[in-house]
Amino acid sequence: MHALGYRCITAMDISATAIGLMQAGDQDKEGIEYMVGDARKMDSLPDNLFDGIFDKGCADSLICGYRTTDDVVDMFHECCRVLRPSGVFLCVSHGAPDARMHMFEHEGLQWLTNVIPIHGSEGLNVYVSTKWTQEEIEAAERQRLDDIESTISMRTRSTTFSHSTRSRRGIMHQNRIVYAM
Ligand SMILES: C[S@@+](CC[C@H](N)C(=O)[O-])C[C@H]1O[C@@H](n2cnc3c(N)ncnc32)[C@H](O)[C@@H]1O
Repeated sequence: MHALGYRCITAMDISATAIGLMQAGDQDKEGIEYMVGDARKMDSLPDNLFDGIFDKGCADSLICGYRTTDDVVDMFHECCRVLRPSGVFLCVSHGAPDARMHMFEHEGLQWLTNVIPIHGSEGLNVYVSTKWTQEEIEAAERQRLDDIESTISMRTRSTTFSHSTRSRRGIMHQNRIVYAM
């Protein structure tokens, strides 16, 4: 990325040894900040910080670990959080779409993912996740709150119906159908 002209780069790895080696090799390069950190929990970084995130091998190494899918999903949620709206997360992976897409499409991830297979690369794919725009995020949040509100109101009406039926008839109503309200 530096060779392509980018000059505001944060390079992160969980291994202090890896970061030390990279830093030693890049001493002459300006505009790279090195950070030892866990991609699953980037607490020191604020929301919507980066224009783009590039992963080559981190998600694939997490999938080989103890918590497998959970670790990758945690990493994706954190990447999505620190990515600005309309920003892009690029993930180079040996995982085929049928083994990876369910993690990119995990509930709550505010991005849309497309896959680009790299032909002649023995199964490498680039997953391109574009974070929703601010308007899309706000619309999804409004929809979520509306859904919660209508669920609560449905439950409240159902309870009222159920109680009043019982007191009126003095018996347990046999056909309590929540959705009929
Ligand atoms: C396959 S290597 C790829 C390294 C480098 N991106 C490259 O292409 O040469 C995977 C890297 O992910 C790092 N890693 C594993 N789990 C991590 C985590 N939770 N957070 C950040 N880095 C992690 C490892 O320390 C390792 O350096």
